[in-house]
Amino acid sequence: MNSLRINPGRLRADFDALAEIGATGDGGVHRPALGEAHLAARAWLRERIAAAGLELRVDAAGNHSAFLACGPAGAPTLLLGSHLDSVPHGGRFDGALGVLAALEVLRVVQEAHVSLPVHLEAVDFTDEEGTLVGELGSAALAGTLTAEVLRSPRGGRAALEAGLARAGLTEAGLLAARREPAALAGYLELHIEQGPRLVQAQATIGVVTTIVGLCSYRLTFAGQAGHAGTTPMADRRDAALGASAFTLAARQVVLEDFPGCVANVGEMRFAPGAFNIVPAQVAVALEFRAPEVETLDRLEAALLDRARAAAGQFGLGLEVVPLGKTDPTPMSEAAQRAVAEAAGALGLTHVALASGAVHDAQALAAVCPAGMVFVPSVGGASHTPREFTPWADCVNGANVLLQAALRRGGKEETRKRGDEETRR
Ligand code: HGY
Ligand code: MN
Ligand code: MN
Repeated sequence: MNSLRINPGRLRADFDALAEIGATGDGGVHRPALGEAHLAARAWLRERIAAAGLELRVDAAGNHSAFLACGPAGAPTLLLGSHLDSVPHGGRFDGALGVLAALEVLRVVQEAHVSLPVHLEAVDFTDEEGTLVGELGSAALAGTLTAEVLRSPRGGRAALEAGLARAGLTEAGLLAARREPAALAGYLELHIEQGPRLVQAQATIGVVTTIVGLCSYRLTFAGQAGHAGTTPMADRRDAALGASAFTLAARQVVLEDFPGCVANVGEMRFAPGAFNIVPAQVAVALEFRAPEVETLDRLEAALLDRARAAAGQFGLGLEVVPLGKTDPTPMSEAAQRAVAEAAGALGLTHVALASGAVHDAQALAAVCPAGMVFVPSVGGASHTPREFTPWADCVNGANVLLQAALRRGGKEETRKRGDEETRR
């Protein structure tokens, strides 16, 4: 089993074909969750699964899987996967590499007629990126998705309802898609790093130790519309001033008081929104991340404090709507060991590192031992068409995923995992 390798040409052909779906013409892709391009990518994946002679499974959350019964009857399933949705105008590696490498692992194991103590399943999770909710399919599978989160999604109710309708999914289905944890042997995900550290360390493989916590809010600053030419400057209640002051204050507070954390204002929506109207309302899309739960809570309090102060400074109202919080999540020690051993056995340099991006592995960690393999991102670029990982690194990452899966599926590791699970 140690000599098994993925087929680089076949993986490359899949990767290039997928990158055509929703291609933006500049090397990137635009496949927001449950939009037309994302659904087309999923239709393409269904064909690839059928062509491989693997069993296609689609659950009530729309998660798409290839299933390989390579274990004994009643054996648990080791999940491998990632996501085919992208951020708006994103890169072609984020998520796609992990899904296609997972599919390739199943094809290789199937061709080699390998029997394992576990079954294997390659999963494409619904809406990892949060253009609708974020880690939607993986949380549904883990059974941690709540009706409350669906009532107040990051992308807004209208977008969620439209996406679900387009995909033939329902909220009831999402909330019923939980899988029995006892049936899950674990989860492994290959992903690009999306940051600069592997390149800086001159390492080929990253063994993920922990995934950052993430919190999202919609903050709406409310003033009064007025004529932009005739309302005296001193008399304006300009919502844009509150939103702008808050954005600058958020940066400052993170730089000064929260090392290792980040905050981002990714969107401002102006209403009514015209050259010649003083803005009556500005809705700000805010997310922030921290490596520890306690720091995330303190950062949340500090940012909301700055938002209230900015509103007060310009005589504005402020509406605060929380849009979901994911706690920082450590990866399973057994999974980290399996990834490090797999990289070592393949003669690849590897380093341990924390993930500043969130991933489906975070949702899965609530119900089974989860781990991640990172490969380098040139220039640390991601969520942009500039995102790039040399193909040799992608192949290395896929081989590490394969070998780590064989180790996680192996008898010894399964026993260790059982011990670890009892301790959790
Ligand atoms: O936003 C993120 O961290 C991501 O890449 N899903
Ligand atoms: Mn991703
Ligand atoms: Mn992403």
